[in-house]
Amino acid sequence: MAQWTSAVGAPQLARLLRSQDAPAAQPAPGGRRLPAYRSLADGVRLLVLEGRVPVAARLPAERELAAALGVSRTTVAAAYEALRAEGFLDSRRGSGSWTAVPAGNPLPTRGLEPLPPEAAGSMIDLGCAALPAPEPWLTRAVQGAMADLPLYAHTHGDYPAGLPVLRQALADRYTARGIPTMPEQIMVTTGAMGAVAAICRLCTAPGERVAVDSPSYANILQLMRDAGARLVPVALAERLAGWDIPAWRQVMRDAAPRMAYVVADFHNPTGTLATEEQRRRMVDAARSAGTLLVVDETMTELQLDPDLEPPRPVCAFDPAGSAVITVGSASKAFWAGMRIGWVRAAPDIIRSLVAARAYSDLGSPVLEQLAIASLLAGDGWEQAVRIRRDQARENRDAIVDALQRHLPDWEFSVPRGGLTLWARTGGLSGSRIAEAGERLGVRVPSGPRFGVDGAFEGFVRLPFTVSGAVADEAAVRLAGAARLVATGAPADTGVRHTFVA
Ligand SMILES: Cc1ncc(COP(=O)(O)O)c(C=O)c1O
Repeated sequence: MAQWTSAVGAPQLARLLRSQDAPAAQPAPGGRRLPAYRSLADGVRLLVLEGRVPVAARLPAERELAAALGVSRTTVAAAYEALRAEGFLDSRRGSGSWTAVPAGNPLPTRGLEPLPPEAAGSMIDLGCAALPAPEPWLTRAVQGAMADLPLYAHTHGDYPAGLPVLRQALADRYTARGIPTMPEQIMVTTGAMGAVAAICRLCTAPGERVAVDSPSYANILQLMRDAGARLVPVALAERLAGWDIPAWRQVMRDAAPRMAYVVADFHNPTGTLATEEQRRRMVDAARSAGTLLVVDETMTELQLDPDLEPPRPVCAFDPAGSAVITVGSASKAFWAGMRIGWVRAAPDIIRSLVAARAYSDLGSPVLEQLAIASLLAGDGWEQAVRIRRDQARENRDAIVDALQRHLPDWEFSVPRGGLTLWARTGGLSGSRIAEAGERLGVRVPSGPRFGVDGAFEGFVRLPFTVSGAVADEAAVRLAGAARLVATGAPADTGVRHTFVA
């Protein structure tokens, strides 16, 4: 059986190669020009490492690529041979050639676990994209919940679909956004993670293909791998301009994934926002391919630029409710410590999810559900989200400013919302910078955590969680880490970071 899960056509690969900073134009060390096959091989290798061509993507036949690039077939054959020798290409007679990463490529070794605050000390922990609670709203929400609790204390407390009052409040919010929704279309979950886990269990079997944005949120990728999914990465559009719909159509046609998991709003890690037209076309593509589209709206409320006209939710393009399942969460809009998320789907899907819950976590805590319901009952939620947006905007501006001053050769687009920025690390390995940074007192996740199979080696993710002098110091330490990596010097373990956050 072929080992590839998606394909890149000759015109597409030629376009991607031309969009690079033409390695062919750069002289080799010593002033010699690189042979044509070498610059082609380098170009393909870079596209794989940056995730613009997914791992396990079938490359075009030599003759087709030669014609698209206007080079000889021998050049393409030599480039493919070089890529094979370096571990970036696998081939099998009759199945063609598909991209790979070499076994020794530095892959992330740790998850995205946040450091316990008491253990952080002077370490600046940029591992976790979550903000402290927007007080006084957490305290008020819990007080509201305590006031309502006696009504529930007399019941069994077992609500696998969620408390009726919260299901109603969440349904009403969708209706207010222009998506008529009944409480029967909502299941409350233990965070968005719990929602995606439940959907995976119900809708996919081990070994089935699930297409994902590339890059995507690391913990969900791992959750899906653990569930036995075969992940099919689909690169975001060039310059992070939302989704690459032709690439999605091709993957849905060629790999026929059972499910696709996407983040349309202020995507984690890149902050990308899919356009309304892309949303409409994505739903059409999923519907015609019979692929279930799971849309994660965890970041949706964190619009940071007030002048932005937000596109309609993806489920607005699926009025029948047969193609799209939406996942939401209180974690980013309010506080991750609540561990409250939800699913919005057709009532029959919700019924199946609820029935299956008996074999997983049974339900979510009543007190926390009441707290969120009490916020939603008044203007507490809106007020809390406003505080949250102001905090995130201030932090975003601070980290952008600090990066521009201390790491001028790092490249990034400034996201218009969300909690994360995706920085290209000036040609250095993001994994090595993460390692060196840890020794210099700053913790960042490297790019490959957010890719499938080792892509994005030249990136790190930075969250909007620090401001002022801490953001500045974080960039200073990252610049120190980058210098260590660039010079190959070991970190001076005698130097202690004295900055206290
Ligand atoms: C896109 C996305 N989905 C899900 C999650 C996890 O959400 P929760 O805390 O609700 O489980 C995160 C957290 O960063 C996220 O960014």
